[in-house]
Amino acid sequence: MEILAPETAYDLCTGRLDGENVSYGKKRLAEIRSIFRDRHAADSGDGDTVVYEVGMHAEVPEGTCGGLFFGTSIIHPGMVGDEYYMTKGHFHARRETAEYYFGISGSGILLLMSEDGKCSAHRMEKGALCYIGGHIAHRLVNTGDDDLVVGACWLSDAGHDYGSIAESGFPVRVVCRDGKPTLIPGADAL
Ligand code: F6R
Ligand code: MN
Repeated sequence: MEILAPETAYDLCTGRLDGENVSYGKKRLAEIRSIFRDRHAADSGDGDTVVYEVGMHAEVPEGTCGGLFFGTSIIHPGMVGDEYYMTKGHFHARRETAEYYFGISGSGILLLMSEDGKCSAHRMEKGALCYIGGHIAHRLVNTGDDDLVVGACWLSDAGHDYGSIAESGFPVRVVCRDGKPTLIPGADAL
């Protein structure tokens, strides 16, 4: 029997994934304008701007029971109006499935929301480990000047439910006030 080389490389400093079964996707402003509160700023921004990227190692097809996915989210620094760049956010389609997030670099906030709309905000930075329980929606917000890089591991049959977030949003937003990240209430657009 021979000793095999790793099929996939994972850079512990940058979260970069390379090799077999790795794919990367970009989320551009044009696809997510509606998540930001300042509609005018969102509509007038360049739709080609990449707000965040997700690298993912998927050894098994999406939906496989008992499998795991491993990913790196890179939320770029930037703002739409006074609101920091963030991910769309989602519940898992299989609501009971949990996920680990861990901070690799940069600084930001992880917003969590229960199904009855209760929200909490958690600092996300290098070395932070967050267990996101089932039935909890999650969104990453980059409040720093550099990329916010966050690793994740979740079940391959968790799926994503973006619809509920698109309809009712998170009840808390992260905006810049006096140069500092500040939580304000309100899911609605201006
Ligand atoms: C997977 C997961 C992350 C996010 C990524 C992008 O369950 O939570 O890999 O998918 O951070 O965020 P969304 O999916 O909300 O656009
Ligand atoms: Mn998730």
